[in-house]
Amino acid sequence: MKLEAKALQTRRIVLGVTGGIAAYKSAILVRRLKDYGFDVRVVMSHGAQAFITPLTFQALSGYPVHTELLDAEAESGMGHIELARWADLLLIAPASCDSIAKCANGLADDLLSTIYLASKAPVWVAPAMNQQMWAAKSTQRNLTTLVEDGVHIVMPEAGEQACGDVGLGRLAEPEQIAAAVNDFFAQAERDISEKFGLLAGKNVVITAGPTRELIDPVRYISNHSTGKMGFAIAEACYAAGAKVTLISGPVSLNTPNGVQRIQIQTAQEMLEASLQLVEACDVFIATAAVADYRVAHVAEHKIKKAGDELTVSLIKNPDIVATIAQQQQRPFMVGFAAETQNIEEYAKAKLKAKKLDMIACNDVSRSDIGFASDENAMTVFFAEQYHLPQRILEKAAKKDIAMQLVDSIAKALAGS
Ligand code: C5P
Repeated sequence: MKLEAKALQTRRIVLGVTGGIAAYKSAILVRRLKDYGFDVRVVMSHGAQAFITPLTFQALSGYPVHTELLDAEAESGMGHIELARWADLLLIAPASCDSIAKCANGLADDLLSTIYLASKAPVWVAPAMNQQMWAAKSTQRNLTTLVEDGVHIVMPEAGEQACGDVGLGRLAEPEQIAAAVNDFFAQAERDISEKFGLLAGKNVVITAGPTRELIDPVRYISNHSTGKMGFAIAEACYAAGAKVTLISGPVSLNTPNGVQRIQIQTAQEMLEASLQLVEACDVFIATAAVADYRVAHVAEHKIKKAGDELTVSLIKNPDIVATIAQQQQRPFMVGFAAETQNIEEYAKAKLKAKKLDMIACNDVSRSDIGFASDENAMTVFFAEQYHLPQRILEKAAKKDIAMQLVDSIAKALAGS
């Protein structure tokens, strides 16, 4: 399974493996780290080599394993200082009692402890040891020192140990350690986006998916919207440093990382949620395929089959984006239009009629893009006061289109 790495560029991890039976789990850990797209170089202590061979890690990481501090040949390749500088993160797993003691007390008598001292990279330590050794006052004292020094600990788990004891000290699962490291990088990137991203500090509200207009307790009127475009935009806005709230109709998509989701069914509920959020909102993006009409009187009980015809009378739903655009303190308003002909003319008319700042229009007569597709193509128009030319977004993955839309919004905001 190839997980999507959160890193914009390949992140480099020096994995220190120290002595203990849990060293075998580090082989799996290398795989999990590589699944996230990390570049991994392994450093082994002498103790670790009694449990697992450097060759195993060489095969898994794809690089020679580093074992010696005072080895002229090794130092002529990637020496300890170079490794220390190369690392974006130093991960010690399993971290033995001895390696923890060395790091906590500034010893530098082997390769790993020397790299620890020589590196500016953040350090993660996943201890593994006998439960009695874990509980020892000196171990706990050393761990406290490491935490005070800014080292992150992936706590060991409780359970049966290889030595037969039962208690705390079992190495955390490789999946958990790899996820902790990945989350750490993701958070670091997030912190940067929040400061410097295109939508840094902006509150963005996005409507997405279809609405469901109830006929009776078991039936409804809806449409084929999948919500893919809105969800992709939510993801792109979050990546650009915004605080994102997604008001979504019923869709089968996972909520993007970091995005707050409000689940609604009807257009009326979507409007209410939007109105509640409008005050603190800087950018409102309406991607939802809102049902234009709802049933005038929703039946309290299931409508029974009777007669050859059934008439259900419909009344107009509120236009959510137009309603929000009329608010006194209105956010930057982005709407969408799906047209089959005279795209520019209709899109510009809609931009004016709904008092939008920007409209993204797709040509739904094209069979290769649209609703359920993973791709889209659009033309973006801005309200006159922005003095921005129309922007054509050629056919691309919805994810890429979403990023270009974020860029368009940021350009308009910068000029307003
Ligand atoms: O009028 P039309 O449905 O073509 O407008 C599309 C745009 O208006 C989209 O941005 C859609 O999310 C929004 N809209 C809305 N509330 C409605 C109908 C459309 O917010 N009731």
